Amino acid sequence: MTIAPSELQTELAAIVGAEHVLVEPDVIAGFCTDWTGRFVGHSPAVVRPGSTAQVAAIVAWCRRAGVALVVQGGNTGLSGGAVPLRDEVVCSLRRLTTIGEVDRTSGQVTAGAGVTIADLQGRAASAGWAYGVDFASRDSATVGGSIATNAGGLRVLRYGDTRAQVVGIEAVLGTGDVVSHLSGLTKDNTGYHLPSLLCGSEGTLGVITAARLRLVPEESERVVALLAFDDVAAALVAVGSLRSGLPSLSAAELFFDEGVALVCRVFGLRAPFSEPHRAYVLVEATGASDPSDALSSAVDSLRGVTDAAVATDAVRAAQLWRYREAHTEAIATVGTPHKLDVTLPPGALADFVAAVPAVVEGACPGAQTWLFGHAGDGNVHVNVTGASAEDDRIDESVLRLAAGMGGSISAEHGIGVAKARWLSLCRSPAEIAAFRSIKRALDPDGVLNPSVLFPPEDEAIS
Ligand code: MLT
Ligand code: ZN
Repeated sequence: MTIAPSELQTELAAIVGAEHVLVEPDVIAGFCTDWTGRFVGHSPAVVRPGSTAQVAAIVAWCRRAGVALVVQGGNTGLSGGAVPLRDEVVCSLRRLTTIGEVDRTSGQVTAGAGVTIADLQGRAASAGWAYGVDFASRDSATVGGSIATNAGGLRVLRYGDTRAQVVGIEAVLGTGDVVSHLSGLTKDNTGYHLPSLLCGSEGTLGVITAARLRLVPEESERVVALLAFDDVAAALVAVGSLRSGLPSLSAAELFFDEGVALVCRVFGLRAPFSEPHRAYVLVEATGASDPSDALSSAVDSLRGVTDAAVATDAVRAAQLWRYREAHTEAIATVGTPHKLDVTLPPGALADFVAAVPAVVEGACPGAQTWLFGHAGDGNVHVNVTGASAEDDRIDESVLRLAAGMGGSISAEHGIGVAKARWLSLCRSPAEIAAFRSIKRALDPDGVLNPSVLFPPEDEAIS
C-alpha cells in the first residue's frame, strides 16, 4: 500500500466518522489475531461501518486507492481468513446489528451481518420459530461471517448448512456496487442465485451486509443421550442406524476418550461414566412431541453400546452437551492448534479416524492429535497441538489423507489462508480457473480478502 497512514485514516473517517476508525495497536490487536492464535497479522486501521452505504463507500474508496480489505465479523473463524496477514485494512461489520421482525407466516427474518447467531436464535424463538444453524461460538459468531464461510455446526444433518438457510442477500461487491435481494420469495428463478454464490465465498467476492434467512419450526421437546462405545467402527455404524431409523434425530456428535479426559481436567467436570470408553456419540432428538420413546427404542437396537446416559431435563442435557462443546476451548489450553476440518464419505470415516494419529506422528513426532466432530455428516475436526504454527507438514499430511480417501479438505471452516495451498486437492484446474474468473468479474481489482481461498501461484501444491 502506498497511501500514507494519516491519509488512509482521514479518508476512512470521512466515511464512517473518526470514532469508527481504530488505529492504536493495543486497540486493534484483537482484530489482527485469529481465535486460535495461529494467525497473527498487522493492520494500519480497523474501520467499522454502520450501514450498507458506508460499506459501499469504503469498498469504492479502497478500490480507487489500491487498498486491500479483510472482512471480519465476530472473528471466530478457524482458517485465518478474517485477519490481516498482508497489512490489509480490517473492515469489521459488528455494528450492523439490525434484526427485523420475524415473518410468522413465511418463517423468515432479515438480519444484519453483525447480528450474532445467539441473538438471531433468540429473535426466532421469541416468534415461535428457530434458526436451523447452531454451533458453540454462537455468542460471538455473526450472521455475515457464518454466511461467508457457509458455517455448518451441530444440526446440519437435520436442517442443512448455512447455505440452505439463506434465501436472500445484500452485499457490496468488490466493484463497490450494492446487490440487494431480500424479498425472500420461496420461488424465484430470476437468473443466477447470488446468495448461493456469496455463501461460502469467504469475503472474496463481496461484503455481505444483511441476509434474509429461513427459519424452522421450533421443536419444544428434546432428549439428549450420551452413548459410549469401545469400538470406533461400532460407534459410526450406530450413527448410520440412528440417521436412517430415528426421524427426530437432530445431532449426532462424535468424540473420544482423550478429549473427554481433557475437557474434564480443564473444566473440572466429573467423567460421564465410571469407566472411560474409546468413543462417545452424543445424540439429540427433537420434536413437537416427546421423542424419548423413539430415541430409547432406536438406541436399544444399536450394537456395541457399552454405557449410556440420558438427559431428561435441560440442565442434564446441557451437562452432556458440555463434554462435546468444550473440546475447542479445552484443546486451546494445551497449545495453539492446527485445525484441520475435513469431511469423509461415511464408509471411510472409521479408517480415517484410525489412520490419522500415525500420519500426524509421522509428520511431526511428538505432536498430539485430538479428534472430534459431527459424525452425522462425516465431518471430523482434526486438531493437532505441540507443533509450531508455521510447521505445515501436519496440514499437508492430514489434508492429503482426507482427500486421498475421497473426502474434502474443508467441511465447514472454509479454506481461508490456512488451506489455500491445498485447494487443488479437491478442485480441478478447470474449477479453480472458473473460481478465478468469478473473482475477477466481481472484484476486478482484488480489493476483498486477497490472500483468501486462492493460493499465490508459486505456492500451490500439485
Ligand atoms: C466445533 O465443531 O466445535 C467447531 O467447528 C469448532 C472447532 O472445530 O473447534
Ligand atoms: Zn464443527
